[in-house]
Amino acid sequence: MIQDVEKYLQEVESFRTADAKELENFRIKFLGKKGIINDLFAQFKSVPKEDKPKYGQLLNKLKKTAEEKVKTLRAQLEAAEATAPSGEDLTRPGYPYPLGARHPINIVKNRIIDIFRRIGFNVSEGPEIEDDWHNFTALNLPEYHPARDMQDTFFIQRHPDWLLRTHTSSVQIRYMESHDLPIRTISPGRVYRNEDISARSHILFHQVEGLYIDTDVSFADLKQTLLYFTEEMFGKSKIRLRPSYFPFTEPSAEVDIYWGLKTEDDYRITKGTGWLEIMGAGMVDPNVLKNMNIDPEKYSGYAFGMGIERIAMLLFGIPDIRMFFENDVRFLEQFKSVL
Ligand code: PHE
Repeated sequence: MIQDVEKYLQEVESFRTADAKELENFRIKFLGKKGIINDLFAQFKSVPKEDKPKYGQLLNKLKKTAEEKVKTLRAQLEAAEATAPSGEDLTRPGYPYPLGARHPINIVKNRIIDIFRRIGFNVSEGPEIEDDWHNFTALNLPEYHPARDMQDTFFIQRHPDWLLRTHTSSVQIRYMESHDLPIRTISPGRVYRNEDISARSHILFHQVEGLYIDTDVSFADLKQTLLYFTEEMFGKSKIRLRPSYFPFTEPSAEVDIYWGLKTEDDYRITKGTGWLEIMGAGMVDPNVLKNMNIDPEKYSGYAFGMGIERIAMLLFGIPDIRMFFENDVRFLEQFKSVL
């Protein structure tokens, strides 16, 4: 009988498997309710008296060894399972990394910056929450000036002097305060106006405004710069300037480009005239220069300002300004290949 136990002990010790089913069979065979080990325990009473101690010892060893065996083999199986290939084809090429797209506002902004950089303009930025001085007063729009109504302003209730800037002309004031002449800068940024939201207008939009101040800056310089810009931006070389009014420029003009009347779309967007208004411009008002302690007898300058959304809508044929702010990926993805 002792020999039987020794034989089983050897069998248990040398057992190896990498198969879960086989391991389970092994467990049932030795450690199951009706398994070999229970069976051997049941035979204890018929073991000759003098063999009982040795038999008992060996049997306990067999049980312990079998239990240990099951435990280690199970752990090995689990570890192997965790690292096993899951049937995937590892030689397959990877999934293409999804490509993002620049927002059309950024695309157009960067193009504008690029065009003006080439003729010596740098880029300046300023805060979106402004005070009255930088957004209005310094720009020749004193309190109660009727032209303040031209730009419906969001005021900040707890700070009567604060507002959301209505144009980035405020940045030009800040730039003049902190830089020596000559100045040649463009100021891109987000601006806010309290207007009804529609396909054509929004309470927030983006602008690029430009400012050039030096000795002998003339209206002819302004015209030439605007022509250069429209050629580079739109590939159009016919512009016209219509007299207009801005408090901070004198004289002031609205700048139109000749868009042409080739397609039905051209008729629609130019209302049948072929002309499109793209920006406001003018010679910096002497009062603005005086506010900045710049001598208007010695220095002169021009300024211009345009809305980025409007230009992006023209360039890409976008019918509704609200599309810029909805962040619909189906819209944004269309600009993947646009630089
Ligand atoms: N600041 C004007 C606006 O927001 C644009 C402008 C800038 C006009 C500079 C003339 C000169 O409408």
